Amino acid sequence: MREIKLTVNGTTSTIEVEDRTLLADALRDNLGRTGTHIGCDTSQCGCCTVHLDGVAVKSCSMLAVQAEGAKITTIEGLAPAADKLHPVQEAFSRCHGLQCGFCTPGMIMATADLLARNPNPNDDEIREGLAGNLCRCTGYVNIEAAVREAAAAIRSQA
Ligand code: FES
Ligand code: FES
Repeated sequence: MREIKLTVNGTTSTIEVEDRTLLADALRDNLGRTGTHIGCDTSQCGCCTVHLDGVAVKSCSMLAVQAEGAKITTIEGLAPAADKLHPVQEAFSRCHGLQCGFCTPGMIMATADLLARNPNPNDDEIREGLAGNLCRCTGYVNIEAAVREAAAAIRSQA
């Protein structure tokens, strides 16, 4: 076991992990951030997507020890305030961009990263941007609509 410090959603915590512990498992099991889902554990589904220093990463594809020193944001930390959703969260809600919700945290984190890099993506760019995220409910039409609406909302705030 090894003691590491992880900074998640602005709070730094000291946890004990094995060298082989995945970031996704540390977030869920050590820090209780269960909004980060694990759908495959093999870097296929994107359910575990979080932001590491502002960039979307699949947290099952890196070790917890590799995240020491970085700023990690999970779905629980994306909203700007306790009573205000992030525009991507609002758009997924309004456009019914979720069915069972299992893929949703990862879809939203990946979308927030996509729109930070490209605030006006066309349909192909949306599909390419979310190509690493799978929805087992196959709700892609509404997910894409949510991304378009979130992009418009973010541009209108700029
Ligand atoms: Fe990480 Fe599926 S759980 S990609
Ligand atoms: Fe069910 Fe995407 S909404 S997996």
